[in-house]
Amino acid sequence: MANIVVVLLQMLLGLKVLSIPTLAVFLSIDCGSSDSFTAANNITWVGDDLYIKGGESQTVQSADNSSSVARQYTTRRVFPTRKKNCYSIGDVGKGERVFLRAYFYYGSCNNNETSSSPTFDLQFDGNHWTSVGGCITDPFYYEVIYLTKFDAVSLCVAQTDPDHIPFISAIQVISLDVGMYSKVDSTYPLFMRRRANYGGDKFVRYPDDKFDRIWRAFPGNSDLVAIKNYSQVIVADLPNKPPESVLQTAIKSSNLSAPGIGILIPSWFYVGDKDEITLYTIFYFSELEQLNSSEQRSFTLYLNKINISDPITPPYGTALEFDLTTNVSYADQENARYRLIPPSGSTLPSIVNAMEIFQIGHILTDGTNDNHVKALSVLQKAFVQLQSWSGDPCLPNGFPWEWVECTNDSVTPQMNLSNYGLQGSLPDFSALDTLQMIDLSNNNLSGEIPSFLGNFPSLNMLNLANNSFGGLIPSSLTNNCNLKLVYSGNPNLCAPNQSSCVNNGTSISSASTSKNLGTTIGIVILVLVLVSF
Ligand SMILES: *[C@@H]1O[C@H](CO)[C@@H](O)[C@H](O)[C@H]1NC(C)=O
Ligand SMILES: *[C@@H]1O[C@H](CO)[C@@H](O)[C@H](O)[C@H]1NC(C)=O
Ligand SMILES: *[C@@H]1O[C@H](CO)[C@@H](O)[C@H](O)[C@H]1NC(C)=O
Ligand SMILES: *[C@@H]1O[C@H](CO)[C@@H](O)[C@H](O)[C@H]1NC(C)=O
Ligand SMILES: *[C@@H]1O[C@H](CO)[C@@H](O)[C@H](O)[C@H]1NC(C)=O
Ligand SMILES: *[C@@H]1O[C@H](CO)[C@@H](O)[C@H](O)[C@H]1NC(C)=O
Ligand SMILES: *[C@@H]1O[C@H](CO)[C@@H](O)[C@H](O)[C@H]1NC(C)=O
Ligand SMILES: *[C@@H]1O[C@H](CO)[C@@H](O)[C@H](O)[C@H]1NC(C)=O
Ligand SMILES: *[C@@H]1O[C@H](CO)[C@@H](O)[C@H](O)[C@H]1NC(C)=O
Ligand SMILES: *[C@@H]1O[C@H](CO)[C@@H](O)[C@H](O)[C@H]1NC(C)=O
Ligand SMILES: *[C@@H]1O[C@H](CO)[C@@H](O)[C@H](O)[C@H]1NC(C)=O
Ligand SMILES: *[C@@H]1O[C@H](CO)[C@@H](O)[C@H](O)[C@H]1NC(C)=O
Repeated sequence: MANIVVVLLQMLLGLKVLSIPTLAVFLSIDCGSSDSFTAANNITWVGDDLYIKGGESQTVQSADNSSSVARQYTTRRVFPTRKKNCYSIGDVGKGERVFLRAYFYYGSCNNNETSSSPTFDLQFDGNHWTSVGGCITDPFYYEVIYLTKFDAVSLCVAQTDPDHIPFISAIQVISLDVGMYSKVDSTYPLFMRRRANYGGDKFVRYPDDKFDRIWRAFPGNSDLVAIKNYSQVIVADLPNKPPESVLQTAIKSSNLSAPGIGILIPSWFYVGDKDEITLYTIFYFSELEQLNSSEQRSFTLYLNKINISDPITPPYGTALEFDLTTNVSYADQENARYRLIPPSGSTLPSIVNAMEIFQIGHILTDGTNDNHVKALSVLQKAFVQLQSWSGDPCLPNGFPWEWVECTNDSVTPQMNLSNYGLQGSLPDFSALDTLQMIDLSNNNLSGEIPSFLGNFPSLNMLNLANNSFGGLIPSSLTNNCNLKLVYSGNPNLCAPNQSSCVNNGTSISSASTSKNLGTTIGIVILVLVLVSF
């Protein structure tokens, strides 16, 4: 018997050990749907039931029925209640570099632009991400790359205007390989601004890009000529692993006397940051033409007319990555462009195959105090009514869960669970000892009042009125003279014999309502008796 248990244990442990390191996450969630389906590119989209408790599912009407949007956009989840609603995605572990993408498809917004296209905030892991809004009838998305700090990824939409109802259409979470996008200090997130497939004529994504990055095609124009060779084999083990098909195309300036390749940094990059932003830019170069000994292609990179690189020579049959971090200021946006310009020795014009630009965000938060988070989750386990809140309980600032108030990353000054329909006894939430006010009134809480509440050093108000608490009120509470304790409406609660505070002004409300009620009933009966005569 004991042997069987051991064998079973070993099997369980063995399975666990095997499954952890091999689990790279590639998760695509179709919000507002309960079904799974596999798209033409073989990505499987799953319904969102497992990842969210609140909100309502909605079917999206496209602006005109002729346009066929991808199936993941045809449903969405809308959130008419609560300030913040969060998807909690536990498939991802702590310390993993992931990219997270949130898709929005509003469909028709032609009737009344202000009322039909909501504005709201997008947040991840307790960090502000961006403000979503404006009347955009095509599907659009935001993407962030970062190193996770928690055992689960949370993605929230948050109400910023009471007339606007947040929604979300789809979510993707994909783990990246070690080394990808790792040159920037990993305490900062990278918000994707542009990912260009120069010289290509269509989007490149999964399965060409096994991480399903979306490389937008820039087919070229009269000054910038597309070159492509899809039979060119490009073997390059670059840190960011760009897909080969993206490297097989490029643009080049039409001739040597042309002013090189210019890449504008558009003003929408500055959204929300009207002074200075920090950009992380990666260029990908590969020579696509077989050059003879007298031909030479090289160029240097300029930003705002300042030469910022040594000469770059794209290699043939392989590729190189050139990355840089730069600050660009809104005031200087007229000049804000990259230029690839050949120096005098070069016999051929400059080329570029692909590029990514990210904005480096503010430092990632460590989230709400871990002990507080654990104590809140103990409360959630005990009371089913609290389980639909997820995401960070306090952060970002200004978006706490409805039943707590926070000061930055701390659950304080108060927790108000009045009227939440709670039933059963209170679990140990003694870690929330920074609370000054706890309101648990008007529930059906039973059992004894936990004595740890008397050890909360700043607690000055504890309202337990109208519950089913029983036993004796702990002396740690009755002897706390700074505490206003309300416990009326708990018929089975024994009032303390004496309190050391009674005579010096601390107010303790006794279980006196039953007496008052009795008097009231007496008066009512008296009145009835009088009337019937
Ligand atoms: C999808 O998977 C099937 C079976 O593995 C394969 O035949 C097909 O080529 C794949 N489609 C794409 C777009 O990769
Ligand atoms: C689109 O189709 C739906 C039902 O199929 C219909 O109710 C709606 O009026 C159509 N919209 C337009 C703009 O044609
Ligand atoms: C659009 O909606 C807003 C707010 O609901 C309303 O004040 C405004 O009058 C509407 N405009 C039109 C043209 O219907
Ligand atoms: C494309 O690449 C292949 C393989 O490297 C090469 O043989 C061919 O000449 C190239 N085509 C052009 C048009 O450069
Ligand atoms: C070179 O490019 C410039 C700018 O695009 C253009 O004005 C000029 O005509 C081109 N010269 C030749 C020989 O194509
Ligand atoms: C190299 O190629 C260029 C253009 O194709 C040609 O004009 C030149 O004569 C070639 N030089 C040699 C040494 O082959
Ligand atoms: C500026 O460009 C030249 C080539 O024109 C290059 O040799 C030099 O290294 C560049 N300077 C800097 C600071 O990158
Ligand atoms: C960009 O600006 C920040 C401060 O705003 C500074 O810490 C950082 O060093 C700057 N980076 C570059 C590349 O100049
Ligand atoms: C909360 O955060 C703000 C902004 O970061 C800071 O100014 C303030 O001092 C913090 N308050 C506390 C109590 O830590
Ligand atoms: C707690 O919330 C209820 C409303 O849900 C409110 O009536 C009560 O005053 C609040 N308690 C405190 C101490 O603010
Ligand atoms: C309160 O909880 C007790 C069990 O602890 C239950 O018997 C009683 O029906 C509940 N009362 C209400 C009003 O829900
Ligand atoms: C009330 O009396 C108690 C016991 O005598 C004492 O410890 C406490 O400090 C007093 N509180 C106030 C507010 O005076």
